[in-house]
Formats: sequence, structure tokens, C-alpha cells
Amino acid sequence: MTQDEGKREAARAALKYLRPGEPIGIGTGSTVNHFIDLLAPHKLDIPAAVSSSEASTARLKALGIPVVDLNDAGTLSLYVDGADEANRHLQLIKGGGGALTREKIIAAASRMFVCIADDSKLVQALGRFPLPVEVVPMARSYVARELVRLGGSPELRKGFTTDNGNPILDVHGLRIEKPIEFETRINQIAGVVTVGLFAHRAADLLILGGAGGVRELKAATS
Ligand code: 5RP
Repeated sequence: MTQDEGKREAARAALKYLRPGEPIGIGTGSTVNHFIDLLAPHKLDIPAAVSSSEASTARLKALGIPVVDLNDAGTLSLYVDGADEANRHLQLIKGGGGALTREKIIAAASRMFVCIADDSKLVQALGRFPLPVEVVPMARSYVARELVRLGGSPELRKGFTTDNGNPILDVHGLRIEKPIEFETRINQIAGVVTVGLFAHRAADLLILGGAGGVRELKAATS
């Protein structure tokens, strides 16, 4: 099975968590694109979606699913999104696609966050994937210096601005042993819009697709 087939199988397994008649939160990326495509036969059951990116919005609209503002949707019962890395506590690194700020907001505003990924994304310790940090443009250099003080090697994502008009620093060389504390620490740096570490609000369920089939993981307690 290819990595892409693993993503598609994980996306397919998430369909059973749909709640007919209720709006859904939709993330961003190639795994989520599979999920959106698989929604086609269910679209009459989905009154609306809240989307984390312009790219997902366009794909949802092309399918005929109305996209609404989170302010009008209230609390969502389900949010489905991918990840760049996940640990056994279902804490995540996200933002490889640059949509981390809206993704974090929708995850926070949802009762259940189902993360879908191919099984290569499960790791012992987060940090091999460069940690994305979205910053206010004028704070770029300052935040980069602070991230160096925390042991990372930030690199400006070239030729990229987020849907919010901000640059992203991708922080290399980290091994994140204490994700909750590290997320709090980065959130305290002035000029940081969002860090792509989802530890305070981890996923509730991780669905992994791979050669061995589909696995569903709940957060490990120790
Ligand atoms: C976008 C994300 C994506 O969920 C993450 O990058 C995974 O992408 P893919 O499903 O293409 O592997 O966080 O900001």
C-alpha cells in the first residue's frame, strides 16, 4: 500500500463519525482532500461545513457542500483533519500545509477532533518534522531569535504567506519531550500568531491507514 492509499483508507474510516444533519469542521491537506472527496455520497446529510483553508473551501463548494463562518456555526460536533506527526498521546504537529491558525481555532471549537493520517506519521517524540510557527510579519526576526534560544533552527518558509497574510517559520532540530509545556512557552513569545503544536488541544481519536490496515487510537494515559 502506498502512503497515499493509507491516507485514503484513514479518511474512509472517518466517515462513520459523521453526524447526519450537523455541520462539520474540515481541515486541510492531501488526507483531508480524500475525506472531502469521500463525502460526495453523504453530502445531503451535511447541512454545512466550516473550513480551515481557501483550498478546502473550494473543494467543498465544488462538491456542493455549503461553507459557513465559524461564528455562525457555534460549537461543532466533529472536526476532521490530518497531521504531520502524532504521538501516542494524540498530540500533533500540524501546519505543513500552512493552515495551522484556522485549524487550531476549529479544533478548539469542536467537541470531537478526529485526526486522519497514514501510519508513517506516528512517532515516539514530536519534532523530526519541522515545527511550523506563524508570526506577525514585523516580529519574524525577533521570534526566530527566541526560537533559537529554545534550541531550534528556524527557517523562513520561502514564497509562502498564510491565508491570514503572515509568514511561517519552520523550526528544525527539535525533540519535543514535553509538548504541553513547549506549546505554552512558544505561545508566550510576542509576535507568535500560532504554533503548530497541538498538545493542549490534542486529537480525540487518531485513525491511521497503512499496509496492516486501519487502526484507531485513543490517547495513551501514561
Ligand atoms: C495543514 C496540515 C495538514 O493536516 C498536514 O500538513 C498533513 O497534510 P497531509 O494530509 O497532506 O499529509 O496541518 O496545515
